[in-house]
Amino acid sequence: MKQELILILDFGGQYTQLIARRVRECHVYSEVVPWTISLSDLLARKPAGVILSGGPSTVQDPSAPMIDPALYEAGIPILGICYGMQMTAHLLGGTVERAKEREYGRVTVRMTDRSGLFGGMKEASSCWMSHTWQIASCPPGFRVIAETDNCPVAAMVNEERKICGVQFHPEVTHTEEGGMLIRNFLFRYCGCSGSWTMNAFADTAVRQIRETVGETGTVLLALSGGVDSSVVAALIHRAIGKRLTCVFVDHGLLRKGESGQVCHVFSHLFPVRFIRADASRRFFDDLKGVTEPEEKRHIIGRDFIEVFKQEAAALGKMDYFAQGTIYPDVIESGQATNAAVIKSHHNVGGLPKELGFTELIEPLRMLFKDEVRALGEALGLPRELVWRQPFPGPGLAIRIIGEVTPEKAEIVRESDAIFREEIAAAGLDRHVNQYFTVLTGIQSVGVMGDERTYDYTIALRAVTTDDFMTADWARLPYDLIARVSARIVNEVPHASRVVLDVTTKPPASIEWE
Ligand code: XMP
Repeated sequence: MKQELILILDFGGQYTQLIARRVRECHVYSEVVPWTISLSDLLARKPAGVILSGGPSTVQDPSAPMIDPALYEAGIPILGICYGMQMTAHLLGGTVERAKEREYGRVTVRMTDRSGLFGGMKEASSCWMSHTWQIASCPPGFRVIAETDNCPVAAMVNEERKICGVQFHPEVTHTEEGGMLIRNFLFRYCGCSGSWTMNAFADTAVRQIRETVGETGTVLLALSGGVDSSVVAALIHRAIGKRLTCVFVDHGLLRKGESGQVCHVFSHLFPVRFIRADASRRFFDDLKGVTEPEEKRHIIGRDFIEVFKQEAAALGKMDYFAQGTIYPDVIESGQATNAAVIKSHHNVGGLPKELGFTELIEPLRMLFKDEVRALGEALGLPRELVWRQPFPGPGLAIRIIGEVTPEKAEIVRESDAIFREEIAAAGLDRHVNQYFTVLTGIQSVGVMGDERTYDYTIALRAVTTDDFMTADWARLPYDLIARVSARIVNEVPHASRVVLDVTTKPPASIEWE
C-alpha cells in the first residue's frame, strides 16, 4: 500500500515538530524537512499535502526564507501556519503588514465560514496566537474564513487550489479545536485515509536501516535498559539481526530486576549479539568517599565511557553507531547552552565521536516519548519495559544521599521495588509519572522488638508532571502509603523510618541530588 505522507517545511518555528506529531496522531505519516528542500526533491516524495510551519521571520525582510512559488502550482494541498500563511499571502499577491496590536496567547477567533477547514468547529474558538505581523489583504482567489478583534485575516482559503492558511497555531493544545482543523486539512483537502500505524513506521525504518547498513554492515549500540535504547535495539534487530551488537554497561546501580530483564530480552526475545559488561566493582570503587552530587555524576559518566570504550575496542571495527536519540533530546541539546547547569545530566552524547564514528543511526530522532513507547509495543517489546518510568543515567547513585556503597544501593533498590510493586498493585503506575525511594542518609532512633535501633530513613518521592520541567507531588492514597511504609520497615534491613516528600518542582527538583 502506498504510504500517505504529509511534509512539513520547517521555517524555524517553536512548534514545528508538534505539527508533525499532531498529523501522526491522525494516523497519517508526517515528516519535518528544512524549508530549503528543493522543489524536485519535495515532489519526488509525492506528499499528499504540505504544511508550511511558523517561524521568527517577517516577509518584509529581504533575507526572509521563501519557498519556490512553483510549489503553489504543483496541485498539492497546502496549509500555511503563522509565518507559513504570511509567506503564502506575500508570494501569491496579498499584503502583509505590522499588526496594530501584537497578539500573543489565547485569543478568541471567529470562524466566518465553517464549511471546509473549520468544518464541525464552533463559531468562536479559543486559539493560540503569537504574531507581530499579519495579512492585510488576501491574494486573488482567496477568501477570509476567520477573524479576531485585531486581526482581519485570521485564516484564508482558496478552495479550488486547496491552499489555506491560519494565523494561529492549531498544533498547540491551547488551541481548543486545533485537532479538528488538522483533521479537516488531512481528510477533506489532502484526501488522506488515516490508515498509518506505528507498524508502518517500523516497516519504513527497517527498510531505511537496511539500505544504510547494506548486506554486510555492522552496528554498535549502547544499551542502557531504558525505553529509547531498547526500542532502537529491537528495531535494528528486526532489520539486521545479529549484525547488531549491543553493549550493556551494568554499573550496579540499576533498579531491582532490571539488569536481568535487559539480558533476557536481548538474548532471547530479540537475540542480538549481546555483551553485558559487569562493571559494578569499578563504579563502586570510584565512588568511594564521594558525596557531592555533581562529582558522582561526572565519575559515573566518565567510567561509563571508559568501560564502553574498552568493550568496543575488544569487538573490532564496527561500521555504524546507533543511538536512541528522541526528539526532546534534540531540542534539549540545542537549548541547553543558555540554561544554568542545575544538574549536568549524565550524557553519553559524545560517545560516538570518542569511538571514532562518523556515521550515526538514530531512527527515533523525530519521535516523542509516547510515540517511542507505541513503537516499542508495535515491535513486541515487553510492556513493563516499554512503559518504564524515566530513570536517570547515574541510577541509584543520585538517590543515595552521601557516599554510595553496595549495601546502601541494596537498601534503596529493595525499598524502591516495594514502592513500585504497591503503586502498580493500586493501578496507579500509569497515573503517577515518576516514583521512587531515596536513602536520605539520615539515621534515627527506633525500636524493633525490644531493641533500640539506629537505622536509615527512606523518603518516598512520587510526582505528576507532563514535561518533567515542573512537577507536583502525587496525592497518593493514605492506605497505599501506609502499606508501603509498613512493608519497607518490615522487609528492608536497616530501613527503620519512612517519610513522604511533599515538595513541588520548582523549588525542589524531582531527584534529590
Ligand atoms: P530533576 O531532578 O532535574 O529531574 O527534576 C528531571 C528528570 O530528569 C531525570 N534526571 C536525570 N536523567 N541523568 C539522566 O539521564 C541525570 O543525571 C539525571 N538527573 C535527573 C530525573 O529522573 C527526572 O525524570
